[in-house]
Amino acid sequence: MVIEETEGFSPQMFEVFMIPWKLIDRAQVPGHGGEMCLYQRGGEFTIRLAAGELMNSRAHGSEDALAELACARIADRPCPRVLIGGLGMGYTTAAALRRLRADAQVLVAELVPAVVKWNRGPLGEFAGHPLQDARVTVCEADVALVLQAEQRAYDAILLDVDNGPEGFSRKGNDWLYARAGLAAAFAALRPAGVLAVWSAGPDRAFTKRLHQAGFTVNEVRVRARASNKGGRHTIWLAVRGS
Ligand SMILES: C[S@@+](CC[C@H](N)C(=O)[O-])C[C@H]1O[C@@H](n2cnc3c(N)ncnc32)[C@H](O)[C@@H]1O
Repeated sequence: MVIEETEGFSPQMFEVFMIPWKLIDRAQVPGHGGEMCLYQRGGEFTIRLAAGELMNSRAHGSEDALAELACARIADRPCPRVLIGGLGMGYTTAAALRRLRADAQVLVAELVPAVVKWNRGPLGEFAGHPLQDARVTVCEADVALVLQAEQRAYDAILLDVDNGPEGFSRKGNDWLYARAGLAAAFAALRPAGVLAVWSAGPDRAFTKRLHQAGFTVNEVRVRARASNKGGRHTIWLAVRGS
């Protein structure tokens, strides 16, 4: 069969689509009881939950943008501290490291220990092995607990733990996007610090809650893929006053 190049799909991509997905590993999601699975198809990986695909190695434009937009605002600060939740495939962490100074400290909170193991193994090469960077510390824990542990501690907090405020991976994550979670994030930020939140789409009620929590809010629509391609995702940049 000869396949012509059509609508952004190359013949090589059709060949890849014909390869069946292979299950590489599975893990329980703490506090949820659900299962998270890592699949591979050729050189492509996907992380899936029962509810659907959480993340694919081919599309990370908006995950990169989450870090780029937030870290651009704090890049000149001495010894910046950044909290990232969660790790996923490491794209947000890698993008933050590219934007931050050599004296930065990046704490990555990841709920599922297997995700950290996958990033130290087969997923590591996709984002350029960000966990090997000396500025990074990994904490295998719920980011909700990590951000409540310290006050006025971070210059930026980057949250991409779910599909957005109306998440599907874990009921317990609702707290992060609710009033109590936003108050905790506000308290954990240093003056003029940035809370950046990724979402699959807009959410007016969440924007309102950010304002009510005391943040100055900027909502940005970004493309899912690099080179201005793919669907549009939403990123909130919420700045704590001085
Ligand atoms: C969509 S992925 C993140 C993708 C990431 N931005 C990237 O660039 O690859 C969501 C990640 O958050 C983790 N996660 C979910 N809930 C969490 C929580 N409460 N605390 C920390 N990590 C969490 C998941 O296990 C998963 O690794």
